[in-house]
Amino acid sequence: MSIYSELILDHYQHPRNFGIIVNPTLKSFVSNPLCGDEIEVAIKIEKGKVAEIKFQGRGCAISLAAASMLTEFLKGKPKEQLKKINKEHMIKMLGIELGVNRIKCALLPLEALKKL
Ligand code: FES
Repeated sequence: MSIYSELILDHYQHPRNFGIIVNPTLKSFVSNPLCGDEIEVAIKIEKGKVAEIKFQGRGCAISLAAASMLTEFLKGKPKEQLKKINKEHMIKMLGIELGVNRIKCALLPLEALKKL
């Protein structure tokens, strides 16, 4: 039996907002030095809102599912929301208990967001 929830597996297998944005307003890239996984987040802001948000990269199920959930949550939100989202919010979105190492996976997309 999988240790991940169905929701995480669904986001991992069918990532939302995976791809690139041509001429994004903001873009950032992070990698996890422990495993080499990488995530790039790109955003287009229009009229003060997150008009488009996409990510790409390679990573484990947790990091890619977290990126998928995060981008899905932020799409269409006011741009101020980009600064408000935090670690607790990410963990809540994933909805499972995470050990120390897996927390780093879950927070990789958030780290990219904070670097924007
Ligand atoms: Fe690399 Fe999860 S194992 S981010």
